[in-house]
Formats: sequence, C-alpha cells, structure tokens
Amino acid sequence: MTVKPTGPLGDVSEGVDQAVSVLRGGGLVAFPTETVYGLGADAENPQAVARVFAVKGRPTTHPLILHIPSADTLGDWVSEIPDSAHTLAAHFWPGPLTMVLQRSQRVPLAVTGGLETVAIRVPSHPLALEVLTAFAGALAAPSANRFGSVSPTCAAHVEADLGADIDFILDGGSCSVGVESTIVDLSGTDPTILRPGGVSREEIEVALGRPLVAPVMTGTVRVPGSHALHYAPRASVVVVANSADLPEMATREASSGLRVGVLLPADSDAVSLPQVKTLRVPSETIDFARTLYAMLREFDQHGCQLVLVSMPDEVGLGAAIADRLRRAAGPRSDD
Ligand code: TXA
Ligand code: MG
Repeated sequence: MTVKPTGPLGDVSEGVDQAVSVLRGGGLVAFPTETVYGLGADAENPQAVARVFAVKGRPTTHPLILHIPSADTLGDWVSEIPDSAHTLAAHFWPGPLTMVLQRSQRVPLAVTGGLETVAIRVPSHPLALEVLTAFAGALAAPSANRFGSVSPTCAAHVEADLGADIDFILDGGSCSVGVESTIVDLSGTDPTILRPGGVSREEIEVALGRPLVAPVMTGTVRVPGSHALHYAPRASVVVVANSADLPEMATREASSGLRVGVLLPADSDAVSLPQVKTLRVPSETIDFARTLYAMLREFDQHGCQLVLVSMPDEVGLGAAIADRLRRAAGPRSDD
C-alpha cells in the first residue's frame, strides 16, 4: 500500500519522520533529490535492497548508488579516500556528483552488484538531507522508475510508475537539476566519467586541475545505462542531425499515419498538424535538463509513437542531455 505523499505545502517534518520510520522498518521510500527522485532502502538491510531490485525490475548485477548525509561519513563506506575524492567532495557535495571508490566491508555486495567498488553521493535536496541525517545510515537508491524507463522528476511521476509497489513517497516538488548525477570513477589510476550528469566535465576538470581521460569500455565495469534503450519513453526516439529538418520530417512521418512528437528549437516554425505534438526546447540548457524527462513523458501521454529531436551542443549540461537522448534513441540512432 502506498502512503499518500506529504506535499511540499503540507507538514514536511511529519513526512520526513514517516519516511525515516518506514526506512527503519525495512520499507521502500521514494524521496526527492536535486537530480531525480530516488527509490530508497536501508543499504544494510538485505531484504529491503532485494525488494528495490524486484520493484524496479532491475538485474541484480546492476549496482545501486549509496546516498549518505555528508562527506564526513564517507570513510564508513569506502576503504580508502584518495585526494581526488576529498577535492571533488569539497567542491560538489552536497550535489549531483557520484564517486566510484573501493567499498568498505560495511557495504553489502548486494548493493554493488558484486563489485568491489561502490558508487556514493551526498544529494543536495533539503528533504533528502533531512531524511539521510535522521536515518543516520546509508540509503541505497536507484532512480524511482521501472528499469530502462524515464527517470521521475516529480512525485506524480513516481506514483504513476511505482505507486502500487512501494511504501511511501516523500513529495519535495520538482527536481531542480532534472538529469541524474555525474558518475566519476576514482577507483583506478585516472579519474574517469562513467555517466555525464548534473556536474559538467569542465567543472570537474577545473576542480581537479587536470583534464579527464576518456572512459575505456570493458566488459567488467557496469557502465551506467549501457543496456540498450535506457532512459527511454514508450515512443521510438529518433535523433535528427540538423534541427532545421525537424518540421519537414515530422510532417512526412505524420502523413504516413504515425502520431509524432517533435522537440523543436524555440525559433523554428510549429508543425500545425493534429497528429503532431510540438514541444519547445527551452533556450537555457539548465532549463532543458530540468524539463527533459517531463517532456518525454508528455509525448507518451499524447500517444506519440515517434519522437523526433536534435542534439544540443555537448558542453556543460548539454553533454548529459545528449547522452540521455542518445540512450533513449537506443542502438538505432547513429548520431
Ligand atoms: O542522480 C542520481 O544519480 C540518481 C539519484 C536518485 O541519486 N540515481 C540514479 O541511480 O541515477 P540509478 O540506479 O538509476 O543509476 C546508478 C548508476 C547505475 O547505472 C550503475 O551502473 C552505476 O550507477 N553504478 C553504481 N555502482 C557502480 C559501480 N560500483 N561502478 C560503476 N557504476 C556504478
Ligand atoms: Mg536510473
């Protein structure tokens, strides 16, 4: 049974107390972070962690991120803190950065999917921090959506996806970043970005004082979202090289009988066909990231079978947006 969310205008501290008591009892709580909503469980409770995988429909080899209340407790969960981790924590925590480090014995292998490394972050959403501080342990929390689908950026998205299967949703409004955290692997010799996200490569390079090496894809590292069609809406997503071609392509596909969604730049003409749902790319990249997943869901709600988009410039947050669009498009996209 789902306990109804405590809205942002309701009694927030009561919601936090309830969330913490559900977590202590081994239950599953969806909670807001600045990136996307997480599906939290006590990381040290094997039954609760197993239920996270079951509810999400996620393979148990696909590791979870550990959420902790502050960098002060990092040493409880990792066997060693390299200088680079101290530096990045000082710059970006609390915030949308996840670090992969060597796990300590306290981190169950069920959380890491059997890996000797653990992904760990301190989120900055005030309600997430309140829950984590009061819980005083670590929460294993993937994004609160079914495996492979679009991450939730508000409580209503969580309720629509998982409402029937989880114990509590803590409503903290819409997520301010809107795409998942950046995952940087600090467990090897060179820091490597495994997933672009809310903190840009450029910001990390400035903080570390050196350029990052390109990721090496191997069969052993579980590169996030490496499964085909990760972060995908129901519609087929097609990435178009040139945004100027979008209106004509949308018209052509609609005339062949498809319901088409198109994500158009602000300055291009709308396609006025009833079978075409047009949404606009916000002019600021930060707003594009914040609204991306809600727009993909909106296309689904309109019954779009095909969604046409073009790529943003891959700088700053644009790299995370481009990554998610590419994954939503799946292996068919050649962008
Ligand atoms: O912003 C976020 O990171 C959100 C919020 C809720 O914190 N969480 C999130 O979790 O996106 P999830 O489970 O949807 O994605 C976590 C990714 C997984 O794709 C997994 O492959 C990667 O983190 N990951 C976890 N542990 C890892 C490890 N030890 N090595 C490499 N990748 C790891
Ligand atoms: Mg996810």
